[in-house]
Amino acid sequence: MCGIIGYAGTRDVVPVLIGGLKKLEYRGYDSAGIAVVNGNHVDVIRAEGKLSNLEAKLGNHPLSGTFGMGHTRWATHGKPNENNAHPHRDCTGAIVVIHNGIIENFLPLKQRLQKAGHEFRTETDTEVVAHLIEENMKDGTKFVEAATKMLKELDGHYALVMIDGNEPGTIIAAKQGPPLVVGLGDNENLVASDVAPLLPYTRDIIYLEDGEYAVVDQKNVVVFGHDDEKVERAPKRILWDAVMAEKEGYRHYMLKEIHEQPRAVRDTFTGRMFEESGEIFFNDLQFTPDEWAKIRKVHVIACGTSWHAGLVGKFLLEDAARIPIEVDYGSEYRYRNPIIDESTLVIGVTQSGETADTIAGMQEAKKHGAKLIAICNVIGAAATRMSDGVIYTNAGPEIGVASTKAFTTQLTAFYLLSLYIRQLRGGDLDDRRYAMHELSVIPHKIEDILAKQEKHIEALAHKYSKSQDFLFLGRGVHYPIALEGALKLKEISYIHAEGYPAGEMKHGPIALIDENLPVVAIATHTPVYDKVVSNLQEVKARDGKLIVICDEGDDAVKALADDFIEIPWTIEPLQPILSVVPTQLLAYYIALRRGCDVDQPRNLAKSVTVE
Ligand code: AGP
Repeated sequence: MCGIIGYAGTRDVVPVLIGGLKKLEYRGYDSAGIAVVNGNHVDVIRAEGKLSNLEAKLGNHPLSGTFGMGHTRWATHGKPNENNAHPHRDCTGAIVVIHNGIIENFLPLKQRLQKAGHEFRTETDTEVVAHLIEENMKDGTKFVEAATKMLKELDGHYALVMIDGNEPGTIIAAKQGPPLVVGLGDNENLVASDVAPLLPYTRDIIYLEDGEYAVVDQKNVVVFGHDDEKVERAPKRILWDAVMAEKEGYRHYMLKEIHEQPRAVRDTFTGRMFEESGEIFFNDLQFTPDEWAKIRKVHVIACGTSWHAGLVGKFLLEDAARIPIEVDYGSEYRYRNPIIDESTLVIGVTQSGETADTIAGMQEAKKHGAKLIAICNVIGAAATRMSDGVIYTNAGPEIGVASTKAFTTQLTAFYLLSLYIRQLRGGDLDDRRYAMHELSVIPHKIEDILAKQEKHIEALAHKYSKSQDFLFLGRGVHYPIALEGALKLKEISYIHAEGYPAGEMKHGPIALIDENLPVVAIATHTPVYDKVVSNLQEVKARDGKLIVICDEGDDAVKALADDFIEIPWTIEPLQPILSVVPTQLLAYYIALRRGCDVDQPRNLAKSVTVE
């Protein structure tokens, strides 16, 4: 989605803006631009394509100033070209706006403004904001009041940052939907779409809520609610090290994040499970046994990779809680008229905490009295602020668009939650201690896979990189991993791939199998192992190319396979955390071999904050 940064302070603003936009590139974009105020003159430079194009233009037209804003655009209304790139301006050129989201009533507003004589230069919805402020100022109304009046006329979702060249130094930042944060510096203040661009300057961050806006200048930040009353909001101290968001020597963020998984999983369970006492404790989630006993069903809402985590979560929670667990796509849930009441617990699973479809589903559930839990990777994100409880995945910033460490930490969160439910229900202490021990050694087992298998998987990727289709098969807890492996491959290599329950293959997909079709199957020891082995034989009988992910030393399965990837043994509920790692590496190295943009795949955004 679009990236936003604004700055008011004493530094040369251009490097601050360009550096900040670079830290937002992972959100996906197709054009970029900055506005810099010098005296009371506003200069705007925009460029289509990557930030390097904008930097090249700035090289020919250098700008200087200590106040300005920047934007990377992911097109929704209007083609991805320079003319539609943000920032956008009013007729005078003094009012300048950048925006993430969709203004749903922009057409009637645009028609009304055109009738009033406003000249529009772009196809975007955003431009109406600048002209609306200009119109509101015609009767002498000052900029801040004109802008806040404009906000009340908008329908839709927006993170807006606005400045007036005639009142240099004042930024207005308004949020309704997409994220917007304010960074409190020393004699400088910043606004941005998320935390990463702010970390070089400050760790003290204020998260704006929906309906709020902030008036920001070099020295002050004041937050107002939707009826213009002041809001007192203490800043959160963000402990992420700016370096964490860098690549640390890896070729791509995605590869770095695959290798960060041992640390990320460890950081997600540390401080929450205590093997000695057998206790599970969550800082931001408390149920009493009586409160838990009132929960009659659970709905999990998520999208994409997070939805796959929810499918694994269903297995873990249903086994622990013995109540129905339904897993829905965020984009489907609110339209199926779900049965929700006070006895329903809804779990929103979302790395970014800002996915519009997931948030909308959670809002629907809240409206009908459900209790909400968020499993989220971003402190203070929308999903967390609307929930009764939160389990933060401590994966650290996930920059690669393809989700990896967020997924394995989501699985870790579900595993911890299942142990917490067992604790609430008076489950066996020794069983819980054993389950905790098995989780405590998972990071080492991930490290084992990375150390022993990465080179081998890279070679397999070269062998199969020209294939046009892949089929991924898994049963039970590994069925969601088959789906996830297929998604990883298709979203970064653009190869068509499907994930299927292994037992379902004979009901159609088996028709696809021939000597040109690589079939990735997960065949670790679970109660359905023998069934999976039968499915492998069905593939072999039709000359399919079999790549099997199996337990170390499983010679029977290895004999069946054209190629195999061995992973360490663990208990069934934890196996998905291990079996997904080879699929991540396979996708990465195939995409690399095919010359794809691994961290920013075409058409994709890291956080889809529009419906
Ligand atoms: C997965 O690799 C993709 N990045 C995408 O499917 C993602 O999982 C989905 O958009 C949900 O994002 P969220 O976890 O931030 O809600």
